[in-house]
Amino acid sequence: MTDAIIIGGGSGMGLALARTLLAEDMQVTIVGRSSDRLARARTELARPGHGRITTITADLGREEDVAGLFAQVERVEHVAVTAADATGVYGRTADVATATARAVVETKLLGAWLVGKHAAGRVTGSITFTSGINAYRPNGSNTIMAAANGALASLAYGLAIELAPVRVNVISPGWVDTPIWDQLGMDKQAAFAELAARLPARRVGTPDDIAQAFLSVMRNGFITGTVLHVDGGHRIT
Ligand SMILES: NC(=O)c1ccc[n+]([C@@H]2O[C@H](COP(=O)([O-])OP(=O)(O)OC[C@H]3O[C@@H](n4cnc5c(N)ncnc54)[C@H](OP(=O)(O)O)[C@@H]3O)[C@@H](O)[C@H]2O)c1
Repeated sequence: MTDAIIIGGGSGMGLALARTLLAEDMQVTIVGRSSDRLARARTELARPGHGRITTITADLGREEDVAGLFAQVERVEHVAVTAADATGVYGRTADVATATARAVVETKLLGAWLVGKHAAGRVTGSITFTSGINAYRPNGSNTIMAAANGALASLAYGLAIELAPVRVNVISPGWVDTPIWDQLGMDKQAAFAELAARLPARRVGTPDDIAQAFLSVMRNGFITGTVLHVDGGHRIT
């Protein structure tokens, strides 16, 4: 029995969410492809007096893994999906490998659909996916990720109807300082400083900003079929 499954919980926003839920004394299962990363996260998160943390190795892009993950769980209250791999994704469409584009869609969009398919009947409270600001402010170098993120909203609306009264939502983060940026091969600090100066919030996000938004959506029984933008005002700049 676990209270929450976080697919992508080994780093970044998912790790921050795991820390937040454990501090609320919830039993948390974190999921990712790398058992080493999960083991490091478990060591970092385990605290006496907090909830219990377990790990499961699974690839969101593989149906047998997603089916196997939920087969191990009889009942779970909340499922959060933060998993994404941005390796090779950024660049002009003509320059992005088709295999990379397929992998993005298979993880971010089809992976989310697989969660809806295999969590059905086991999840009792909520499913929350993670999209991103590029769905709403594409910049010419992230088109396939933007498309997958944008489609997550429609997926969540559909699943919110199908799986009701289980609530299904999307968190759409703006730029957040997490390890995903290390895959992009750019000067992260310079990009963050330039964006922070333009944002109404005057800073980029922290993983904890996003974890707190997840917690609100999980707890509020009247939020379903919604995209919650947690982007420091990026969408309106
Ligand atoms: N950081 C930002 O500025 C930003 C902005 C907008 C949206 N987002 C979105 O926010 C979400 C969280 O990103 P983050 O910044 O927290 O990134 P992160 O630190 O790189 O975390 C992503 C996690 O997902 C796991 N993962 C990747 N592919 C997976 C797969 N196929 N199956 C299972 N787990 C997988 C990774 O672990 P393994 O490699 O071990 O599998 C990793 O722990 C992503 O959906 C991202 O697109 C991020």
